[in-house]
Amino acid sequence: MGLDDNILELKHITKLYPGVVALNDVSLNIRRGEVHALVGENGAGKSTLIKTCSGAIAPTKGEIVINGNSFSNMTPQTSVKNGIGVIYQEFNLVGDLSVAENIFLGRAIRKGMLVDLKAMEREAKKVLDSLHIDISSKTLVKTLSVGYQQMVEIAKAVSQNARLLIMDEPSAPLTNAEVESMFAIVDHLKENGVTIIYISHRLDEIFRLSDRVTVLRDGQYVTTLNTSETNKDELVKYMVGRQLTEVYPERKKSCIRDEVIFEADNVSGNGDHDISLKMHKGEVLGLGGLVGAGRTEFAELIFGMHPKKAGKFIFKGQEFSPKDPREAIDVGIGLVPEDRKKEGALLGMSIRSNINMPIYNRISKGTVVNAKKEQEIAEKYRGEISIKTPTLDQLVKNLSGGNQQKVILAKWLAANSDLLIFDEPTRGIDVGAKQEIYTLINTLVEQGKTVLMISSEMEELMGMSDRIIILAEGRMAGELKKAEFDQERIMQLASMERKD
Ligand SMILES: Nc1ncnc2c1ncn2[C@@H]1O[C@H](COP(=O)(O)OP(=O)(O)OP(=O)(O)O)[C@@H](O)[C@H]1O
Ligand SMILES: [Mg+2]
Repeated sequence: MGLDDNILELKHITKLYPGVVALNDVSLNIRRGEVHALVGENGAGKSTLIKTCSGAIAPTKGEIVINGNSFSNMTPQTSVKNGIGVIYQEFNLVGDLSVAENIFLGRAIRKGMLVDLKAMEREAKKVLDSLHIDISSKTLVKTLSVGYQQMVEIAKAVSQNARLLIMDEPSAPLTNAEVESMFAIVDHLKENGVTIIYISHRLDEIFRLSDRVTVLRDGQYVTTLNTSETNKDELVKYMVGRQLTEVYPERKKSCIRDEVIFEADNVSGNGDHDISLKMHKGEVLGLGGLVGAGRTEFAELIFGMHPKKAGKFIFKGQEFSPKDPREAIDVGIGLVPEDRKKEGALLGMSIRSNINMPIYNRISKGTVVNAKKEQEIAEKYRGEISIKTPTLDQLVKNLSGGNQQKVILAKWLAANSDLLIFDEPTRGIDVGAKQEIYTLINTLVEQGKTVLMISSEMEELMGMSDRIIILAEGRMAGELKKAEFDQERIMQLASMERKD
């Protein structure tokens, strides 16, 4: 196997959308057996590039060469047949089917006319075992954690004999423990000669996993480096075209006022959770804990998405029990949700409408919207957090993942809420934009607003919070002041088990 044994060659790939050059003459070789990382800012063209390989979209120009065979007209079928498997961020699994049925979806093993479920379960078990994935092939997919669902996707690709596995931000939805298991699978696949293209905004992962790394910027190929011969600073410089230093921008001291703006008093939601806490004006309160600890559920209670079972909320000195998000918005609460696809953005609508959504009643007279105001507000935030788009008319679904997240942020900034809840605000966001979001959070609290930030990224939680409350199994496991922040202590509290 020579050095120039390429499993995949992309030649002069260009992809044009109306007003957007998503990819501009990108050429790139992937060597057989390597883990090749693909990095770049939001909207750089990473997802678009891999979609041309999987046949999900057709390039405007260019050629795709797999194992020396050239394809100018790639289709999803051809791609799979030639050994390419893709793990997208949104899984393509059917929750009500078993693991085995999902792995063999669309290509069921049959005995005569009948589907041979036993045989599928047997074969699925073989694949799962070979990957050391410890779940039964009979389990219904909807009962699995996100981490395991992703493993089923990987098993499905492997069972289709994928020799090149492309993973688009696979770690984004996973907990720390799940990320470790996913890494183990990647290592294992690599040992078995599978080539991997790995997209991630988390540079630690790039250095942990990859042999080489390619940087894209604004749809253009920038460079390919041997991972062992580069470092984070250099990568970031290639990605953003400038040096980035401090990760957590300084906040003016003593933003925190004495005034308590929000209080939860023995609140419980669905389970027998029980949370009491106070938030002050000008404070960033971090909410830590493992996935499933009840952090998102708590946020959704405040935002009126579910009724609470017990306890009370006090907001701006008054008891408050929102029936729905509208009520929460009207009193001055905003929520940037974890899953932007599900709840955050109206994907089929324009950026302009999305940003103005919570405030249409403020910028309208009767049913007539003040179009000038609407445009001004959208423009303002497009500039402030650099939403990358040629026009505010663009539909949100056509934006890159990170830019969709920014639109949701913009919408709550425009709403001028007094309490903003951010649930994993920087998930899928590139390094440069992360800093912009951190700076924005600082600006908000400097203006006397309050931020409740849920984050699974320990560094972010410690870097941005004034105080951290840790939940475990729906209860308060502990509270740490800034001087007491300590990664191990937080992990300890987060994994505390209930005694009752
Ligand atoms: N269907 C589409 N219509 C119009 N523009 C599109 C479409 N799909 C992608 N784009 C644009 O192409 C560019 C590249 O997007 P892409 O999704 O490849 O970025 P990315 O590098 O994956 O970013 P992220 O890290 O945010 O996921 C962006 O400017 C995006 O808005
Ligand atoms: Mg992407």
